[in-house]
Amino acid sequence: MIPVSKPLLDETEIENVIEVLKSGMLASGEWVNNFENAFADYTGTKYAVTTASGTTALDIALKALDIKSGDEVIVPDFTFISTANAVLFQNARPVFADVDEETFIIDPGDVIEKISSRTKAIIGVHLFGHPFDVKAIQEICEDYNLFLVEDCAQAHGAEYKGQKVGSFGTVGCFSFYATKNITTGEGGMVTTNDKEVEEKLSLIINHGQSQKYLHTSLGYNYRMTNIQAAIGIAQLSKLEYFNERRINNAEYLNKGLNASLKMPYKEKDVKHVYHQYVVKIDEDFPMNRDEFMGYLSDNGIGSAVHYSLPVHRQPLYQELDYEVGQCPNATRLSEIVLSLPVHPALTEDDLRYICEVTNKVS
Ligand SMILES: Cc1ncc(COP(=O)(O)O)c(C=O)c1O
Repeated sequence: MIPVSKPLLDETEIENVIEVLKSGMLASGEWVNNFENAFADYTGTKYAVTTASGTTALDIALKALDIKSGDEVIVPDFTFISTANAVLFQNARPVFADVDEETFIIDPGDVIEKISSRTKAIIGVHLFGHPFDVKAIQEICEDYNLFLVEDCAQAHGAEYKGQKVGSFGTVGCFSFYATKNITTGEGGMVTTNDKEVEEKLSLIINHGQSQKYLHTSLGYNYRMTNIQAAIGIAQLSKLEYFNERRINNAEYLNKGLNASLKMPYKEKDVKHVYHQYVVKIDEDFPMNRDEFMGYLSDNGIGSAVHYSLPVHRQPLYQELDYEVGQCPNATRLSEIVLSLPVHPALTEDDLRYICEVTNKVS
């Protein structure tokens, strides 16, 4: 079976982890500090703070920005649920903005429609590895005095006008889950240029501890371990190579697939890092999405649906009385998107085979 995603690990990760194990320093320590410094350098930000997951990265970012009960935060309706849940964690209200039908990313026009006197921040998601329209969203944030939070969970190394994502907002939030462009198994990172925010983040992940056993604020244990950081350092050194492979694989599929699928769209001034290669299966295609997934699976090709519901339609949000159908593009996309394998472990034979099998359908 060609899996829809697969981490690429080699001796570098293994040797780093062995070194940590031999040192006996398993919890947060020097490896974590080194990973933070290397990640800040890579994204071109002053600071980076590790954490336990992409979800906790978003959570601590909003806490550091003092988002609280009564506040609203605008989030795209088409994303992984963590983006919106991070707002609920603060007892604040996520307000959903629709996305662009072609790029799948947050629609600045709809963002403006959703702003109220309670709005404190916008979380833009660089979905599937395609940067959102940073300039437009930054301008809205300046005009309405809002924080910009970048959800970079799917976009390590992606660029907008030649600058790396994670360096535009007050904070950038990354995930290192196993399927991401780089992984630590589970893990997360927040990037920022703001010293005060960095200090708050560091306190929140570690029990609000300003000195040994002196706790000045409410905090959590959201720390990363040296074992994870050792994997992360090895992965980071290969991120550019991984992304080049993803981009080449996507280009191969763009050229090789002649079926009546709608290929992923890319804006001119961005570096898309293809966390997912997402096609649209609409009425022009001879099979419906379920039939096509079954057909691919029967032929040994994995695929996945990201995401089968817009966030506002999730049972959790229906319990909270979000109006059904409020973001029509997100709703429509959830019915027609399908992710095909694009990960860096694919061989040319795999890519050729994916095209051959798919092209037989049309
Ligand atoms: C857009 C987005 N935001 C946040 C997250 C949360 O990351 P994690 O799974 O590491 O908690 C993910 C993970 O899938 C994601 O895709």
